[in-house]
Amino acid sequence: MENHNINLTLNIWRQENPSTEGRFEEFKVSTSPDASILEMLDELNNTLEAKGERPIAFESDCREGICGTCGVVVNGHPHGPLPKTATCQLHMRTFKDGENLYIEPFRAKAYNIIKDLIVDRSPLDKIIQSGGFISVNTGSAPDANIHPISKETATIAIEAAECIGCGACVAACKNASAMLFVGAKVSQFAVLPQGQPERYDRVQAMVNTMDEMGFGSCTNTYACEAECPKGVSVTNIARMNRDFLKAKITSHALHF
Ligand code: FES
Repeated sequence: MENHNINLTLNIWRQENPSTEGRFEEFKVSTSPDASILEMLDELNNTLEAKGERPIAFESDCREGICGTCGVVVNGHPHGPLPKTATCQLHMRTFKDGENLYIEPFRAKAYNIIKDLIVDRSPLDKIIQSGGFISVNTGSAPDANIHPISKETATIAIEAAECIGCGACVAACKNASAMLFVGAKVSQFAVLPQGQPERYDRVQAMVNTMDEMGFGSCTNTYACEAECPKGVSVTNIARMNRDFLKAKITSHALHF
């Protein structure tokens, strides 16, 4: 039977733990064009384990582009070169036969490399824990329906809520800013009636935690929007900035 596999040279970041130095290690693979990049790494790991070598550490969960666990940088792009595609949905047919791929972890001051391609993205969780929720009682489902929400508003909230929290925006940004992530997580509630009681507490708490975690500032390069696997818009950053300023100008006391 004819072999339609594609042959690639992989340069993969290997690092034993957060305190050791990392380096690229080269592997030659022949893989199906229909394999995802994670399936290709699974195959490579099977080969490494069969030889008694240490497999490559990487993260994944849903493999459907919805959980945000799987991000790596491929040839300089967080989640690889295809727009609006998470690493788990990036297929090898994207690449040419004989191509060199450089696969490395998301890099940012706020992310520690745990092992190989796995980084500690818990600083994003800490931002959510500081205010990315609604704790007021919104009543049962029928009660919630007494607040009519326009299609336009619902669309803004749902598009912001598409953020899967993968942290690619941070890896894409030259300042390692998390403002697209935080902007989306603020906006998904800020435009809805249920989000109003805690609106200004929320934005202040989340922005303060973002700063404490060591994320950088936004200088409007839009690299985050370009690399976001869900195409989350930078308009969410503008909305977050407006709410943050309003909270400061009106001396809104932080209650969280
Ligand atoms: S594994 Fe869930 S988004 Fe890729």
